[in-house]
Amino acid sequence: MGSRHQKRLAPLSLRLISNPDHEVLTQLYQVEVSAHQDPWTLDDIAATFSDNTRCIGLYLKEELIGFAVICVVVDEAELYTIGVCKKYQGLGLGRKLLGATLQECLQLGATRCFLEVRVSNEVALHLYDRYGFTITGTRKNYYQGSGGNPPEDAFTMMSDLTQLPPELLCDLA
Ligand SMILES: CC(C)(COP(=O)(O)OP(=O)(O)OC[C@H]1O[C@@H](n2cnc3c(N)ncnc32)[C@H](O)[C@@H]1OP(=O)(O)O)[C@@H](O)C(=O)NCCC(=O)NCCS
Repeated sequence: MGSRHQKRLAPLSLRLISNPDHEVLTQLYQVEVSAHQDPWTLDDIAATFSDNTRCIGLYLKEELIGFAVICVVVDEAELYTIGVCKKYQGLGLGRKLLGATLQECLQLGATRCFLEVRVSNEVALHLYDRYGFTITGTRKNYYQGSGGNPPEDAFTMMSDLTQLPPELLCDLA
């Protein structure tokens, strides 16, 4: 399903975003608000940029339609966030973005990647499963309730990046 839709959506590109100015931070924030039920603020996004983090943007022509942020320290990576604008979800783009993000982790020397995810987030769990992530534990009430919603548990997950089939990975550009 994904590749047929992606041809229609071409040209897609995956690019590293560094030292974002206010305009790029605003684009990231717009994606964040479109993708996530409990979005980061613009300041949260700005604060993730550091020496150890990388932000990978997914572009449709020149429009930013998704991004992921990783933190890599020595041989361990953590996926801080990944999201695709709501109108582009379910088209295989999350797979493409995660494939490029994990490839970047490997290139930076990480052999394992960790993350947390809402226990109810079936699409993300499906995506992570495909990329070798397995559940390593549960964090009780990790996500605070907001907008009348109760708190929610997180699964902690880990993937051994050295075992990923190359066809799941994807270079930037
Ligand atoms: C999670 C997210 C990044 C996935 O990206 P996406 O482009 O929507 O997903 P894809 O189309 O690449 O599909 C990924 C997998 O989920 C499956 N999937 C997609 N939509 C689905 C749905 N509504 N229900 C069940 N499975 C679904 C796909 O079939 C695919 O599995 P496959 O590889 O076995 O075929 C995206 O949906 C998103 O931004 N969600 C909101 C933010 C979020 O939850 N981020 C993760 C936690 S931080």
